Amino acid sequence: MLNCLCPLAYFAPVLFLGRFHLVLLHLPIGILLLLAALEVACRFQRFKGLAAARGFIIGLAAISAAVTAGLGWLLATAGGYNADLLFWHRWLGTGVAVAALLAWAAWAWGKSALYYPLLVVAVVAMVLAAHFGGSLSEGSDYLTAYAPDAVRNFLTGAPTTVRPAAPKLAAHRRRSIVYSDIIQPIFAQNCIRCHGAHREKGGLRLDSYAYLMNGSHGRQVVIPGHPGHSVLIRRVSLPPMTRHRMPPGRRPGLTADQIAILRWWIRRGATRKSRVRRPRGPVGPKAGGA
Ligand code: HEC
Repeated sequence: MLNCLCPLAYFAPVLFLGRFHLVLLHLPIGILLLLAALEVACRFQRFKGLAAARGFIIGLAAISAAVTAGLGWLLATAGGYNADLLFWHRWLGTGVAVAALLAWAAWAWGKSALYYPLLVVAVVAMVLAAHFGGSLSEGSDYLTAYAPDAVRNFLTGAPTTVRPAAPKLAAHRRRSIVYSDIIQPIFAQNCIRCHGAHREKGGLRLDSYAYLMNGSHGRQVVIPGHPGHSVLIRRVSLPPMTRHRMPPGRRPGLTADQIAILRWWIRRGATRKSRVRRPRGPVGPKAGGA
């Protein structure tokens, strides 16, 4: 992956520490916001006394921002993040740390003409960094996905609601396209969170036929005609909690039916267009498992 200090990524303690980025990052956010609130409050006679705490708080903010940014650099070595989002998040986050450290220094040397602008820079950069960070870990539509249509359109500026297209199962079509009607929905439901536009874990995207067939790092994960040799099949067939199993950890995996249809499709050549006859009688809109 282009976004990593690659040799470091093979060093487990780097990732062990790096993951604490997600815990610590809340500290500089809270502390910087507290400081901003304090600066506003100090303007009022009633809260004048708070100003005495300024030096202590900016010190804490600067140290926590610097540690958080450092851990972020380590975490990024894991790779698999959307490169554009990571770029902005990384440099805005580093900017927060630098601005907070400079603000601390300015305060210590009594240069309030520098201290205030630096504090503003740190807070603005932090808000933006947090935005890109949220998009990195949860996908950019995380907050708005369940918003009422009007709110989502307002916040995202999208004129119309973009929903994942429902599989086209027109009544006149007696045959389903295996990939788009059956396989892709399985990936969409179980895999794209980590193998999509926002995160490309393992260097693999599963959000289109072309990406699926491209595989990861130039290595195919699906070998047409040979489900048994296809890494993807091997990965989803492992028992939960074992190393390499997909999806990882305790997450509920694919059902036996879903794995069976994946194997069948790959054995038949894994083409984009292969079709199956749909069962007669009422059929649900989602071709789901079987
Ligand atoms: C929670 C995140 C997550 C989910 C969900 C997930 N994966 Fe993965 N996947 C990863 C990570 C991290 C890696 C890289 C580490 C590894 O190879 O185990 C990976 C690697 C892979 C690889 C190996 C790529 C290679 O380099 O050969 C395949 C194949 C794969 N995933 C398929 C799937 C499929 C299919 C699903 C859905 C059934 C899925 N993954 C769901 C996180 C995830």
